[in-house]
Amino acid sequence: MQHETRISADYNPATSVLRERVILVTGATGGIGSVVCRQLAASGASVVLLDKELKALEHLYDKIVEDGNPEPAIYPMNLEGATFDHFPEVAQRIQEGMGRLDGLLHAAATLGKPAPLELYDMESWYRTLQINLNAPFMLSRACIPLLRQSDQASVLFTSDHSGRNGAPYGGAYAVSNAGIEGLMRVLAAEMADTTNVCVNSIDPGVVATSLRAQAYPFENPFELTRPEQVAGAFVRLMGPDGRDFHGQSLTVEPCETATS
Ligand SMILES: NC(=O)c1ccc[n+]([C@@H]2O[C@H](COP(=O)([O-])OP(=O)(O)OC[C@H]3O[C@@H](n4cnc5c(N)ncnc54)[C@H](OP(=O)(O)O)[C@@H]3O)[C@@H](O)[C@H]2O)c1
Repeated sequence: MQHETRISADYNPATSVLRERVILVTGATGGIGSVVCRQLAASGASVVLLDKELKALEHLYDKIVEDGNPEPAIYPMNLEGATFDHFPEVAQRIQEGMGRLDGLLHAAATLGKPAPLELYDMESWYRTLQINLNAPFMLSRACIPLLRQSDQASVLFTSDHSGRNGAPYGGAYAVSNAGIEGLMRVLAAEMADTTNVCVNSIDPGVVATSLRAQAYPFENPFELTRPEQVAGAFVRLMGPDGRDFHGQSLTVEPCETATS
């Protein structure tokens, strides 16, 4: 098992520390992603919401605007079908529409079909690796030139203990998370010294979301940590607190009560 650093999710979103910052979030409408996006906006950031369902994106957009926070931008995109041409277009449209990019949070993921590797379904393998590993690589690659221009940028990959520890039966999901850890380390090493881009990975722990429910359908979600209890750690890493971390595999220390 590799060394993990814990990061507290205790955070006050009313601090406006992310004012004028532009942050792109994939998996924006997901269980964890949606709460993080609302907290990023509550901290003053203009958030680019990227996910595959337009209706869900519009719903989240409305919530952020109703909260009285900076208007987000919506970017509908299915990472499964996206090819390497589509990713530079994301960066280009952010540059044209928002003028800058200060943060990139990868929070989109699919579970694939958990099974032993010797029986693993090949189609699910390709699909899962595409969404969980190839897409974060291609999107990061496309966004680096913009992130380099920021005085304080952050790339945050969401990870999972199954990838860090090689847990059995996680299949392509676990392997893609192991790949994410490698991607984070290589990118962090390449960004060190010559850029202001901090690169880390974060494991939220066990959180009640649809991905978790898919993996463990008989678990009682009300007994699990809620997204609101972990989101603060993600938001902290996108702001000044995040400058203390680079090239690290972080694990969230959830807060007792949810930060809304
Ligand atoms: N929940 C946990 O216990 C836990 C533990 C460790 C790590 N994580 C990590 O936390 C992150 C967030 O997951 P979550 O728990 O919040 O799960 P979630 O609620 O299922 O969120 C995942 C998001 O990714 C989106 N997504 C899936 N396939 C996509 C595609 N092809 N193109 C674009 N977007 C796509 C989903 O959209 P749809 O809803 O439309 O499919 C959803 O909005 C993931 O990286 C996950 O591995 C979660």
